[in-house]
Amino acid sequence: MPIQSTQNIWHNGNLIPWDKAQIHVMSHVVHYGSSVFEGIRCYNQPSGAGVFRLPEHMARLADSAKIYRMPLPYTLDQLCSAVVDLVEANGVTPCYIRPIALRGYGEIGVNPLTSPVDLYVANFPWGKYVHGNEGADVCVSSWSRLAPNTMPSLAKAGANYMNSQLIRMEAEINGYVEGIALDVNGYLSEGSGENLFLVRGGVLYTTPLANSVLNGITRSSIITLAKQLGIEVVEQSLPRELLYIADEAFFTGTAAEVTHLRSVDRILIGDGSMGPITKALHDEFFGIVNGLKPDRYNWLTPVKVKVAEPVGA
Ligand SMILES: Cc1ncc(COP(=O)(O)O)c(C=O)c1O
Repeated sequence: MPIQSTQNIWHNGNLIPWDKAQIHVMSHVVHYGSSVFEGIRCYNQPSGAGVFRLPEHMARLADSAKIYRMPLPYTLDQLCSAVVDLVEANGVTPCYIRPIALRGYGEIGVNPLTSPVDLYVANFPWGKYVHGNEGADVCVSSWSRLAPNTMPSLAKAGANYMNSQLIRMEAEINGYVEGIALDVNGYLSEGSGENLFLVRGGVLYTTPLANSVLNGITRSSIITLAKQLGIEVVEQSLPRELLYIADEAFFTGTAAEVTHLRSVDRILIGDGSMGPITKALHDEFFGIVNGLKPDRYNWLTPVKVKVAEPVGA
């Protein structure tokens, strides 16, 4: 889907017109992938609009920047205010929000420390990311996730997404909507842009951070919701074949939200339909973000914009 532009982009403390948010082709990031970023959703509720887990996302951005020794001269409150100010100024909800810190125009050469750090935040409308209304048909990728001593997967860095692109392209070319990567030891890791959950015997399993996954904020939300619903949650290394014999499986992510998997490698998961545990968690998640259930964990940061469209899950 082509990007739908909005009016403003936040840049280093100021709102600038969308078309003026440009960088030079010789910027460090263009050549060496030196960026860290976030993906956040703002949802409409009957009473207004709210950004989902904004402080957690901006804290992760700061963590990613720290890992890559990128100074971000803003407090967490300032980073969160940047997002709220932008969304309110653009007046577009629901929307997807993309903060990005990048190494700009400085010196040529791999060392990034002599190139300035620029921070931008954009927001724009964005709908469903993993397609398949009856559930997603996915594959296990021939590409592995990043080895832990190559690229740190806890940093949400632009360069990591070259690996994700290989996984996603291979999947789509072969007729799947998404690919799941194994880690370098052959254990399940995650999708190209999603964390992975499976259910077997009433227990909810997900892959731990040590299996080269991003520390997903939707993942942590689902774990919280599951525990509250009395579902046992186990974080452990999982063999690939456990997916094939799972009763249920689903992806989580800001873009993917909660997407149930119908099949993996053409093997049906359960009977292919959304199973009861996935449904309970899906409904709980969408109930909260769409304001149909109380925001009991204070996950939504309110933004003052006119809500034009009716709410739908
Ligand atoms: C590689 C990868 N894993 C997992 C996720 C899910 O993380 P979150 O729920 O914080 O969006 C994402 C999306 O940001 C991702 O890109």
